[in-house]
Amino acid sequence: MKLWSGRVGGELAPEVWDFLHADDAELLPYDLQATLLHAQRLHAAGILDDAELAEVMEKLAAIEEIDESDEDVHSSIERQLGDVGRKIHAGRSRNDQVAAAFRLYVADACTQADAAIVAFARAVLERADGDATSPMPGYTHLQRAQPVTLGHHLLAWVEMLERDRARFAFAAAQAAPSPLGSGALAGSTLKIPPPPNQMRNSIDAVADRDFALDYLYAAAVLFTHLSRIGEELVLWTTTEFGFARLPEEAATGSSIMPQKLNPDVAELARGKAGTAIGRLTGLLATVKSLALAYDRDLQEDKPPVFAARKDVAGALGALTVLVRGIDFDRDRLAAASSDPLLRATDAAEALVADGVPFRDAHEQIASQVRAGTFEAPPAGDRLGDVSAAVAAAKERWS
Ligand code: ARG
Repeated sequence: MKLWSGRVGGELAPEVWDFLHADDAELLPYDLQATLLHAQRLHAAGILDDAELAEVMEKLAAIEEIDESDEDVHSSIERQLGDVGRKIHAGRSRNDQVAAAFRLYVADACTQADAAIVAFARAVLERADGDATSPMPGYTHLQRAQPVTLGHHLLAWVEMLERDRARFAFAAAQAAPSPLGSGALAGSTLKIPPPPNQMRNSIDAVADRDFALDYLYAAAVLFTHLSRIGEELVLWTTTEFGFARLPEEAATGSSIMPQKLNPDVAELARGKAGTAIGRLTGLLATVKSLALAYDRDLQEDKPPVFAARKDVAGALGALTVLVRGIDFDRDRLAAASSDPLLRATDAAEALVADGVPFRDAHEQIASQVRAGTFEAPPAGDRLGDVSAAVAAAKERWS
């Protein structure tokens, strides 16, 4: 069904129809919700009577899918409403309709991302709790640097995830205002009550896609974090590092090499960061230079967000399983962190505590290292027990 056949009477060329068709079936529940809100406002304005509102509500509740032969989800819903559907578009346009539905979608995607982040962070925290005092080497430049604990390192992952949560919460807040009542761009002459939380400017309301960009940004940063975590998991599970063994439920084999246990989950999480960044830059480029208010270019906003939502849930779900089951080799970790050279900074600081200027202390220890005569000072309380920090983090994530 064409919603605009009164103006353009002839048949559209199939090539044109196919090109214009929106892949927006995923928007259906959210468009149904936005349409219901609109119907209630039409009822309050006296444009739909009680029986018509009841019929709209009943029919909306019965719509389960859209027909691919419709131009988009909005056309499909209007067609499936039948005769009463001929009244539903009063005071609205697909421009405010799609923005309203997409905002509901993004808000929901943020809620989902939050739940998946929480599940993953809690899994990491459980592991940090069990290894709050397990020594491991800490790295800079991927060279052994100073001793830390496994719990300390895992808590660093949790910090990244805590900021990710805040970014998704911000995107959800950006998506919350309602563009309903904006019509095509200039509102309506009909006296329809505004939705609570209505956006101030109807031109902005139909043109704005910042909330989608904010979501894609939150997803891109999250994936950047997951790529760093993924990279560490890949390294730690190599024979060379040998810090951990993959759980069978989150490892893959090789189709040719019988001995292999591959970290595909960690690798794909790392790889999807590139795609997630591409989705953000892609939509930025789409929105860039677009004259206000609505332009059909904006139909390109949905596929990247749909795909990001799927990847966020998928990657966090799989990594949660991996982290729950990974088997850390505490002996290997401890052996690697017992390398005396990791304590060279501590030795220099011990001299500082005795009044030696730091640069002199640094030179003194460095020459011992070069001469092969360096001996590590007693560990003392060097190895930070992060139990208290784990407990505090668990409290925040409870
Ligand atoms: N499918 C369109 C989109 O996703 C809906 C809005 C179309 N509006 C219009 N005036 N052609 O953006």
